[in-house]
Amino acid sequence: MNTFAFLVCAVLPYLAVIAFVAGMTYRFYIWFRTPQPGKMTLFPSGDSTLRGILAETFLFPSLFKGDKALWAFSWLFHATLALVVLGHLRVFTGLIDTILTALGMTPEGVASMSTTAGGAAGILLLATGLLLLIRRLVIPRVREISNLPDFIAPLLLIAIIASGNLMRFGPHFDLEQTRLWAASLLTFSPIVLADTAFLVHAFLAMLLITYIPYSKILHFGGIFFTQALVKRR
Ligand code: HEM
Repeated sequence: MNTFAFLVCAVLPYLAVIAFVAGMTYRFYIWFRTPQPGKMTLFPSGDSTLRGILAETFLFPSLFKGDKALWAFSWLFHATLALVVLGHLRVFTGLIDTILTALGMTPEGVASMSTTAGGAAGILLLATGLLLLIRRLVIPRVREISNLPDFIAPLLLIAIIASGNLMRFGPHFDLEQTRLWAASLLTFSPIVLADTAFLVHAFLAMLLITYIPYSKILHFGGIFFTQALVKRR
């Protein structure tokens, strides 16, 4: 058996989950303990409206006020990422198929919708990811405040997205294999797959999962500790 395939399919998934949970626990511990300039309030705070919370989470109005071009790229990036996450729920569990067929769609209809939506999301995600990286490289004031980790995160994401697109548009990969693999991990009897694109994609994804708690990608978690403070007038 190929050692890389064994590591990716049977060892790294468990290590990545352990590193992720340990890292997140550590980050939350540090956030709770860090002295605050004012009274610490979690977001949403008592006086937040439901509309305000939903708007901030889904539409990024504060960023829209500050930089419209950056808002457009980053909103599209996050929206297509959310679509891809939904697509992966389908890849891993088949849950989306179950819901949509229960709602009356045919399995062929679900597959063709997934091909169109997933394919388009993958391309848009790659394009907006590249644009965000290029923006960081070419705008002098942004480049000045960027350090190595600011480049590692988008580069890693772009590599994952590109290898994911390769799986979708390249040689056929049977999605059932991912479901069997995910289920085998849950029963601690992992099966080892052989598809190279899958192995590369999953390997990079596991690096990402491990890296998230220690990187700025965790801004999605930090929002809950800062928004109420930032918005207080
Ligand atoms: C261990 C984790 C992961 C596994 C096993 C996995 C598996 C897959 C598979 C099997 C496909 C092909 C889907 C198809 O042909 O219908 C795919 C596509 C894709 N993956 Fe992943 N993936 C993982 C994590 C990620 C992550 C973390 C990202 C992005 C940050 C990502 C981004 C993509 C993209 C952009 C595509 C192409 C568009 C699409 O099919 O939705 N994947 N992935």
